[in-house]
Amino acid sequence: MFEKLTEQPKDKILALMQMYRDDPRPTKIDLGVGVYKNADGVTPIMRSVKTAEQKWWQKEDSKSYVAIAGDAGFNDVMVDLVLGDAVPRDSVASVATPGGTGAVRQAFELIRMADPKATVWISDPTWPNHVSILKYLGISMQTYRYFDSESGAVNFEGMKEDLDEASPGDVILLHGCCHNPTGANLTQPQWNEIIRIMQEKGLGAMIDLAYQGFGDGLDDDALATRLVAASLPETLIAASCSKNFGIYRERTGILIAVSQDASLRAMTQGTLGFLNRQNYSFPPDHGARLVTLVLKDDALRTDWQAELEEVRNGMLGLRSQLAAELQRYTNSDRFGFIAEHRGMFSRLGLTQEQVEKLRSDHAIYMVSDSRINIAGLNTDTVPILAKSIVDVLD
Ligand code: LMR
Repeated sequence: MFEKLTEQPKDKILALMQMYRDDPRPTKIDLGVGVYKNADGVTPIMRSVKTAEQKWWQKEDSKSYVAIAGDAGFNDVMVDLVLGDAVPRDSVASVATPGGTGAVRQAFELIRMADPKATVWISDPTWPNHVSILKYLGISMQTYRYFDSESGAVNFEGMKEDLDEASPGDVILLHGCCHNPTGANLTQPQWNEIIRIMQEKGLGAMIDLAYQGFGDGLDDDALATRLVAASLPETLIAASCSKNFGIYRERTGILIAVSQDASLRAMTQGTLGFLNRQNYSFPPDHGARLVTLVLKDDALRTDWQAELEEVRNGMLGLRSQLAAELQRYTNSDRFGFIAEHRGMFSRLGLTQEQVEKLRSDHAIYMVSDSRINIAGLNTDTVPILAKSIVDVLD
C-alpha cells in the first residue's frame, strides 16, 4: 500500500528550519520558526520550570495514566490564566492537548462533528498550519482580509466587509493576541466592533491563543479572548503553553469550550474527551504538571511572570531598535510598524525575491512571506538585518 502514497506539500516553516541547519555560514541568522531565543541564541528553560521539574521529579510516584481530559488541576489553572473571571466555570469544558496545535486540531474536529457543513473563516494571512489542517480535515474554509502590507497595519475595513459575507453558524478563527504571521493586532474598539458583527450575524468564535504574555502582558493579551467568551453564545479557545512557559517539546496545550448555555457543558465535555480518546488517548502529562506547579506556587509564579516580562520587554526593545535602524537607513517611516506590532512576529512586506536574496547573499533566514521572528535577533544583529534589508530594497 505504501506505493499508493503521494508527496505531501512541505510546511514552509519546517522546510526553512532545515535549510538554516544545512547552511554552513557561521554568520547565519535564523528569523524563521517561532521559538524564543535569548541574546545568545539559546532557547532557555525558564527558571521556574526548571525548579518545578526538580520538585516534580522528587514527588512523582507513578507514571500511570491520569485522565482522558488531562489533569483537572492543569485544566483549572489554565482556564483561570486564559479566562480570568470573564465567564462562570459551569459554562466551561476543557481538555489538555499535545501543544496548541493539538488544541487547534481538536477544535476543528469538534466543529466538524457539530456541523459537517460549517465553514471556518481564517485571516488572510494566518499561520499556514491552520490552512493545512482545515484542508486535511476537509472542512470548508474562507478567508477574510486582515493585513495591509503597505502600512503594516490591520485592514479593518476589509476584514469587516468580508465578515459581513459570513453565514449564520460559520466559525470565525481569530488570533487572541500577537497575530501570526503579521504581528498586527486589533485595537480594543475594533475587537468590540468584530464582536458586534459576530453577534448580529450569529457567527461562532474560535480563538487561537498561542502567545499570551508575549505582546502587552498576560492579562492584556487575554482581554480580547475574555471579551469574546463573555459576549458570544459559544467560543472555542486553543491555548498553548509552548511559548509562555518555553516548554515547546513537552507538547502542552488546552482546548477550552465556553457556552453561555450551561446545560450544554456535559455534552461538550464528553465530546472533547471522546476526541482525545480517538486521536491520541491520554494527553501528555509532564509539561502540564510543570505548568500547574508553577501557577499554583506563589514564589514560582512570581518568578515565571518576571522572566516572561523580561522576554516580552526584550522583544519590544529589539522592535524599537530595528524600527529606528531602518528609519535611519531608509530615511523614512516605511518600517515604523515594526515598533507597533506585538508578539514574536512582524511581516516586513518584502517580496519573495527580496527574502531569497537576504538568504543567499546575507545568510538571513525568514519565512518566504517576509515574516521575521523578532526573538531571533539580538542588539548586535539588528543593525546587520537593517543594513541587509536596505541592501535588497529596490
Ligand atoms: C511558528 O509559527 O513558527 C510556530 O507556531 C511554530 C510552528 O509550529 O509553526
